[in-house]
Amino acid sequence: MDYQTIKVETADEVTTITFNRPERRNAMNPRMHVEMVDALTTLEYDDGCRVLVLTGAGESFCAGQDLKEYFYDLDEDPSARARARKAAETWRSHLLRLFPKPTIAAINGYCFGGAFTIVASCDFAIAADNAKFGLSEINFGKLPGGHVTKVVNDLLHPRDALYYIMTGKSFDAQKAADIKLVTMTVPRDRLWDEVNDLATTLKEKNPIVLRMAKEAYKYGRDMNWEEAGAWLTAKSQALDAMSGATWKKGVEQFKAGKYRPGLGNYEWKEGDPKE
Ligand code: ACO
Repeated sequence: MDYQTIKVETADEVTTITFNRPERRNAMNPRMHVEMVDALTTLEYDDGCRVLVLTGAGESFCAGQDLKEYFYDLDEDPSARARARKAAETWRSHLLRLFPKPTIAAINGYCFGGAFTIVASCDFAIAADNAKFGLSEINFGKLPGGHVTKVVNDLLHPRDALYYIMTGKSFDAQKAADIKLVTMTVPRDRLWDEVNDLATTLKEKNPIVLRMAKEAYKYGRDMNWEEAGAWLTAKSQALDAMSGATWKKGVEQFKAGKYRPGLGNYEWKEGDPKE
């Protein structure tokens, strides 16, 4: 697919998708949603992509849904609206949320409304200290729909969630880190150092173990105690089957005094099956 609204680049097994509508502060129009479905579907099966980073062109991460092209222009066209909504949901709620490799949101500037679902769907979110966040929907007469309220419910304390949902006030990156909307904030000129350090750490892990650990967390969240215990035991056995019980290699290397698991990684690469 010929991308017009995003840029996809891979270097050293780290793929960066850049929302590329800086003249619209990277607001998500219907075309961007379709392109994101295509890009994530392709990257899911691309062994050359070990870590995925999402960021925005210029000084904005993403200004949410395109208020004109997504909301206003499609208001009178229910079928185009339904198609756009389907693509918008598919890439953020399914493809990105359950992406089989680690995902990092590198938040370089504005982050409003629907962009919260991108932040929430990524495993990690690193915000530059100049980034600005807000649930602006109330300011133009809407509620935060399309899973925005749901992710705010999942991530934030009710006091913070209702404050920002109901006031529409914007907040800075330090506040976003304090309320745990993002993993951390860093000075703007350190954003890419921090993202690259994290990507390097993640690339040092065995990818199949990383994938299964992420699935265990994501799918186990809504289970009750008994279900979670039974399912996680089965999941662990599935990992052993898929990885050829790679953990034994780790423990053998520990027994041989080659490393300390509390302080570093085992050597998983040689002969380790990835799938
Ligand atoms: N949808 C459509 N167009 C947008 C959006 C958006 N979400 N955000 C910015 N743009 C457009 C502006 O209309 C403007 O277009 P123009 O040059 O044709 O006039 C251009 O991008 C630049 O925007 P400015 O407002 O001039 O840029 P500024 O840097 O001063 O402000 C800001 C940026 C704060 C992001 C502002 O544009 C804004 O408030 N945007 C709306 C943010 C928002 O409410 N998002 C939530 C949408 S609802 C949802 O996602 C569920």
